[in-house]
Amino acid sequence: MVKKQVHFGAMIHGVGGHISSWRHPEVNPKQSVDLQFYTQQAQIAERGKFDVVFIADGLFINEKSIPHFLNRFEPVTILSALAAVTNQVGLVGTISTSYSEPFNVARQLASLDLISNGRAGWNVVTTPLESTALNFNKKIEDHPSHPERYEIAKEYLDVVKGLWDSWEDDAFITDIEKDLFFDKEKLHVLDYKGKYFNVRGPLNIQRSIQGQPVIFQAGSSPAGIELAARDADAVFSAPKSLEESQQFKQKLADASLNVGRNTELKLFPGISPIVGDTAEEAEKRYWEVAELVSDEKALAYLGRYFDHHDFSQYNIDAPFPELGDLGRNSFQAFTDRIKQYAKEEKLTLREVALREATPRSNFIGTPEHIADEIIRWIDADAADGFIITTVAPHTLEDFVEKVVPILQEKGYYREDYPASTLRENLGLPIKENRYSKQLIK
Ligand SMILES: Cc1cc2nc3c(=O)[nH]c(=O)nc-3n(C[C@H](O)[C@H](O)[C@H](O)COP(=O)(O)O)c2cc1C
Repeated sequence: MVKKQVHFGAMIHGVGGHISSWRHPEVNPKQSVDLQFYTQQAQIAERGKFDVVFIADGLFINEKSIPHFLNRFEPVTILSALAAVTNQVGLVGTISTSYSEPFNVARQLASLDLISNGRAGWNVVTTPLESTALNFNKKIEDHPSHPERYEIAKEYLDVVKGLWDSWEDDAFITDIEKDLFFDKEKLHVLDYKGKYFNVRGPLNIQRSIQGQPVIFQAGSSPAGIELAARDADAVFSAPKSLEESQQFKQKLADASLNVGRNTELKLFPGISPIVGDTAEEAEKRYWEVAELVSDEKALAYLGRYFDHHDFSQYNIDAPFPELGDLGRNSFQAFTDRIKQYAKEEKLTLREVALREATPRSNFIGTPEHIADEIIRWIDADAADGFIITTVAPHTLEDFVEKVVPILQEKGYYREDYPASTLRENLGLPIKENRYSKQLIK
């Protein structure tokens, strides 16, 4: 029987996906702006036949921000550099629909898609942090509410996808004899008029061989699920358990049916594996990182989810404070869950803060243990792939060298890339141009 194949993405974080791992003796604390580090990580991911490298992003920092958020590359810029030093791995960048213009973003991603020969992807986010408004000529109170951010995102995606189809694939005929650079029948002006955007088009760049960049969506509230169902190819999530992820995948499938779209969204939970040759070694590596976090830093990290709420005002050893609606306009799905488990498990503020700062999961252990856990999720249809976030140093190297071969041996993972485009490697069809389709019909 052919086994369901697992997919992987590598989150490249400057100094690890953890607030204090930059202090680890084996980490270069300046790697968040080190092109050589990014190149090396992308090439390791490619050696491991990963679908994508993934760049997260944010648009507002303050002195309490996570260290690697303070000094980092803009996603499309670094991905363009990585396109030149890789050949097959997909390149996914995070861009906000609340703080950018669709014309610029459509153009940047279409350029990345052409530069990389059909390997670009976009992680669509709506920007949870309200202070971001201050960096974009707005006041804090102008930051759109959670529901409105998703309304904007819907229109935004309509515009971007529309612009990406400005040129049919054979539009640029460059007929020297007839002095025809393009076929004007194959040029389409979008002329979008909506509530939030008015964009004429066309876009000044052609499509790539995968048609359009792949759309990832990260946001798991009901509104986020609806947006994913409507527009995404894949979803990046942060479930706390296999069961939660199974339910989430079902919700995505139901939502996709509801919007009448006949595609299975690929679900990629983020995981932070820690690989050791023995269970004890993996455990030691976990604690090496966990113990780098001070109480003060853990509280600041927790506060970020709640729009930089100041948790230092509470007694750290008292029960987790009652916060009312705080956080619901920010990282809603995260903050609702934190409040819920803190209450259910009767945790103190310190316990919640340390758990959020260095989450524990079943993906810590020997390569065999991690491979088995991945297989358990895949067999249970709780995921289609995983985004690997590095918490401890050398995680990606260890994962590719030690976990990947076990998955290959067990028939759950490919030995090579099946194709050259990101869409095809993910098992998605090449995106046809909507106008060419019309002509065929
Ligand atoms: C796994 C995951 C990764 C995310 N990555 C980013 C990111 O890199 N940048 C960002 O601004 N927001 C990011 N977000 C935030 C979402 O885009 C969204 O604004 C937030 O989760 C609130 O929406 P929700 O309540 O629908 O989850 C991420 C969310 C999730 C669940």
